[in-house]
Amino acid sequence: MSLVRRTFDAFLGFLFPWNFLLVSALCLPKTILRLLRERKFAELLSPSRLQEAWFSDFWGGIAGPNIRRDAAVRVIPLLQGRATKGAVVDEQVAPALAGTVVEVGAGSGLWVDMYKDIAEVRAEESDGAARRRKVGSSAAVDGPITRVYGIEPNVNQHPALRQAIANAGLEDVYRIVPVGIEDLDDATRWDGLVEKGSVDCIVSILCLCSIPDPEKNIRELYQYLKKGGRWYIYEHVRCENTWYMKAYQRFLNVFWPHFIGGCLLCRQTEKTLREAGPWEKIDVAQPVAEPWYQAVPHRLGVFTK
Ligand SMILES: C[S@@+](CC[C@H](N)C(=O)[O-])C[C@H]1O[C@@H](n2cnc3c(N)ncnc32)[C@H](O)[C@@H]1O
Repeated sequence: MSLVRRTFDAFLGFLFPWNFLLVSALCLPKTILRLLRERKFAELLSPSRLQEAWFSDFWGGIAGPNIRRDAAVRVIPLLQGRATKGAVVDEQVAPALAGTVVEVGAGSGLWVDMYKDIAEVRAEESDGAARRRKVGSSAAVDGPITRVYGIEPNVNQHPALRQAIANAGLEDVYRIVPVGIEDLDDATRWDGLVEKGSVDCIVSILCLCSIPDPEKNIRELYQYLKKGGRWYIYEHVRCENTWYMKAYQRFLNVFWPHFIGGCLLCRQTEKTLREAGPWEKIDVAQPVAEPWYQAVPHRLGVFTK
């Protein structure tokens, strides 16, 4: 690639986060008009509720589907056990998503269909006849996904999440947990129970940037995993490569959380996960295709307890 082309790509890369913020800013008047139309005055008058409604419109309607489209080429293979050292590979190198799953920050359900796809791919691989079996059926192929708890405290996203569950035909499998992960074990906050040590897999896609007190809550979530359980991540993290990228990211982070629903750019999520407890295996890295000018670098991979 020519120097001019590389310089131009880097320039666009630096601009991209500002475009993201601008699109979010332009979404705010639409959210305000919608709330006025729907006579939701209490939400308009509460800054935190307005921010939730705004984020929900921005993510569910605009940003999320684009991000999902670009990230699916990594995230779906990751959950199929076909990612290692930040790269997607043809062969399965790790166990696929299975059993009881907790999806942290399910949002508007942009990833819900993948549970169905993964189960179907696995059924196809395992046995042609099994293809017709449903996710969660008792006559399951090896390691079906039996239950998904989609944790999502922002109720504005629930109608879309519910619709995504229905579209995927996963009503019997996927349950919305309407609280933050910090309240997962609080029986007064929701009418279900997830026992510690009972979860086979945790999936977190671009959400550990938004949870409160990540050190405490990630340590807490770790305890929900069974021995041998797996935590699949696709998260963005703090820049660690050069001083100018670190400085640039910190500058962006002055504005970012106000426009992107409280999302924080400079979290050391991989480190926090590594320190959450003992892991038998960690296969997590920056996606290989990400360039040096990535102001929102990611980590992709699996922690095995
Ligand atoms: C950037 S969105 C990502 C949503 C979804 N994973 C996706 O990729 O489309 C982050 C999500 O985390 C959720 N979130 C915020 N605080 C949370 C908490 N305490 N526990 C669980 N999820 C939370 C937000 O409501 C939001 O839906």
